[in-house]
Amino acid sequence: MSLWGGRFRKVSDIQFKKFNNSLSVDYRLIKDDIKSSIAWSKILLDIKILTNNEQKLIEKTLKWILKKYIYDFNKILSSDSEDIHSWIESILVNKIGELGKKLYTGRSRNDQIATNLKLWCKRKSTCILKAIVKLQRSFFNHASLQQNTIIPGYTHLQRAQPITFSYWCLAYIEMFERDRLRILDVINRLDFSPLGSGAIAGTSWNIDRKKLAKLMGFSDCTTNALDSVSDRDFILDILSAASISMMHLSRFSEDLIFYNSGEANFIELSDAITSGSSLMPQKKNPDILELIRGKCSGVYGSLISMFTLLKGLPLSYNKDFQEDKKYLFQGLDIWEECLNMSSLVLNNMKLNDIHCKKTAQEGYSNATELADYLVSKGISFRDAHHISGNIVIEAISQKKYLEELNLLVLKKYCSVIEKDIYQYLTLESCLEKKNAIGGVSKKQTKIALHNVENRLLLLEK
Ligand code: ARG
Repeated sequence: MSLWGGRFRKVSDIQFKKFNNSLSVDYRLIKDDIKSSIAWSKILLDIKILTNNEQKLIEKTLKWILKKYIYDFNKILSSDSEDIHSWIESILVNKIGELGKKLYTGRSRNDQIATNLKLWCKRKSTCILKAIVKLQRSFFNHASLQQNTIIPGYTHLQRAQPITFSYWCLAYIEMFERDRLRILDVINRLDFSPLGSGAIAGTSWNIDRKKLAKLMGFSDCTTNALDSVSDRDFILDILSAASISMMHLSRFSEDLIFYNSGEANFIELSDAITSGSSLMPQKKNPDILELIRGKCSGVYGSLISMFTLLKGLPLSYNKDFQEDKKYLFQGLDIWEECLNMSSLVLNNMKLNDIHCKKTAQEGYSNATELADYLVSKGISFRDAHHISGNIVIEAISQKKYLEELNLLVLKKYCSVIEKDIYQYLTLESCLEKKNAIGGVSKKQTKIALHNVENRLLLLEK
């Protein structure tokens, strides 16, 4: 019989029951439901609904249920219980009889589910934080090895200025660091326990909700029961963090798909993470990166579905909420998997460094340096930009790099140009001059690597 069967005289229609049940999705909350139930039993002991022995037996049985079923989800799924709460209740009552029913004093599934979801988010976040740190470490390993590997930096997908592969890795480490901090923000904001809010208006029992919150590891309890059972902002928050991070992952994928293309040929992905074509024998495809880029849509979908689910819902609990788990789980599972897959890519690729440097040399990416040189000789930047542009046209027509042009030719465009221009135009000199904080010079790169390494060592402890 269902939890609410007392008010009903007819059994549920089979199709309706199937439609109404959520066990096939929310079975994943077993750990969280048991954690919050144990905490609740301790509070029931405080207010003398349970005796010491009764609380102990309930706690022991709940722990036994967790141990028995945590690795055997199929057993849970074969039950026809409505949801994970009713499933646990049925097993508990089955095992210890009437006493099991006492656990449900003063508690509603409304505050229970809101609490469990927050506990789940906290648990999943620790896995995601780990995956982010692991990914940052994979970037860092390349970054420290590739400090001298020059690649072209792009704007508009046109070669713009030379950078190093190390510097490119450091850019992604920054993005994922923001993602990491974003999760911590989300967790801070959701760290208030809704348990003890009852169905909507609070509980009639004189319980210590702050103590209850602490028992579950929350920093405090929520302050308005009506809001507590209706609030799913934290799911929007965490899916927003996931969406932003997936956007970073998809840009990373896109960069590498391009670097891996025959046209760029900057990197080579190992056979271990590439796949072939059923028709074209020569192909070695970066499917893994395309999947990461593609799966981003599933996370955005979850976020938008969640917004749509919540929009216009009257206070407080509505069954619409039952759908939230699907989106939350889907979004965060994809995020975690794609973070891990991205580490796998980085750990299974190598750079064609000679070719990278050659390409960086080819795109006139030192034209800005030429303009800066003219400025150092007293020309205004606007004029210098113009002169440098004309020299680029000359170099293109001669099919030469800027630094291959004869000094007399250069002087034709601007008489202040001297022999020292050639040193100025080397790629190495272009990099070295970018020495203000955040620039690509060796010195700044070393500082950035040092800071990242220290942070990673702390986080990996
Ligand atoms: N399975 C339900 C959910 O996920 C639990 C809460 C049920 N509450 C209720 N008033 N029907 O939302």
